[in-house]
Amino acid sequence: MNKIAVLTSGGDSPGMNAAVRAVVRAGYDRGMEVYGVIRGYNGLMNGDLVPLEPRSVSDIIHRGGTILYSARSPKFKTEEGLQLAVDTCRKAEIEGLVVIGGDGSFRGARDLSLQGIPCVGLPGTIDNDIACCEYTIGYDTCLNTIVDMVDRVRDTSESHDRCTVVEVMGRSAGYLALYAGIAVGATSVLIPEIPHDFQRDVIDRMKKILQTGKSHFIIMVAEGVGGVEEMARQIERETGVESRAVILGHVQRGGSPTARDRVLASQMGSYAVRLLSDGIGNRVVAVQQEQIVDYDIFEALQMKKSVNPADYRIAYEISI
Ligand code: ADP
Ligand code: F6P
Repeated sequence: MNKIAVLTSGGDSPGMNAAVRAVVRAGYDRGMEVYGVIRGYNGLMNGDLVPLEPRSVSDIIHRGGTILYSARSPKFKTEEGLQLAVDTCRKAEIEGLVVIGGDGSFRGARDLSLQGIPCVGLPGTIDNDIACCEYTIGYDTCLNTIVDMVDRVRDTSESHDRCTVVEVMGRSAGYLALYAGIAVGATSVLIPEIPHDFQRDVIDRMKKILQTGKSHFIIMVAEGVGGVEEMARQIERETGVESRAVILGHVQRGGSPTARDRVLASQMGSYAVRLLSDGIGNRVVAVQQEQIVDYDIFEALQMKKSVNPADYRIAYEISI
């Protein structure tokens, strides 16, 4: 392949820029022309392409967000939208596409691949919910951001003998809540993947721990579980501990990527270009046991990821 394009799609994540940089420079190293698609599949449907060369991606390795912008593009899921995207690739003579995003974006990449546009997906999402991949680009940064913010909440929680119920992102994935919960020593962790009993796992637990002399608490709740305001009210009513709810929100998705995310994004970006330059498409790049590997997109989309129950137990076992 001589001409490839790269886009970022779905919810942005810290490290997407480092991945774009890697794709552009690895492509250049192989003598390829690399184009950036603006605003994900929207840009592909509208023909919004810009040529990128090594200097176009200077000074972005440390920046959160994505210089290519991102979008959720419902129209792309229609036959008409897909055809417009294919037409853009054909007209611009794009021979391969790197799609940086989550599993929704990979479904789009699968559809494009079926239309004869070879795509390689790079997992870019804070949720870490890509089944074939142990760590997605942006997850480590987001986890560290959450830990930093909850450490701050903990200070004031402690000063006021309060319970703070913290909601973190993850509409259907609890990785951020579980591992941030372990990292900050949350008393309870509530995630969508594992059913909970609020009375047993939060109220009774807090009452028992109160008797040991602890007077301030953090309860970590994934967005997909929700209801933090009501939880705080119930905790205050039933335990007598003054409570507050804090929804961290989109602040979690921004900021400078950690070294780990920058390295992962660089490795994955380079790997994706290597696949395309070897004429290989329809793949998802992943990390497994510290190795960069790749999977067939169809296979990757069928795989299921489950939360490690041993880690869930640890979260409860040692936060007493
Ligand atoms: P993420 O990639 O982070 O999971 P989304 O689920 O919003 O984010 O998906 C990003 C974009 O990918 C969507 O706006 C849409 O254009 C495309 N997409 C999502 N799901 C599908 C699907 N089932 N088929 C084709 N394209 C899809
Ligand atoms: O992309 C992941 C994510 O941040 C989820 O954790 C969250 O549920 C969702 O995106 C929020 O999406 P939006 O930015 O569209 O509000």
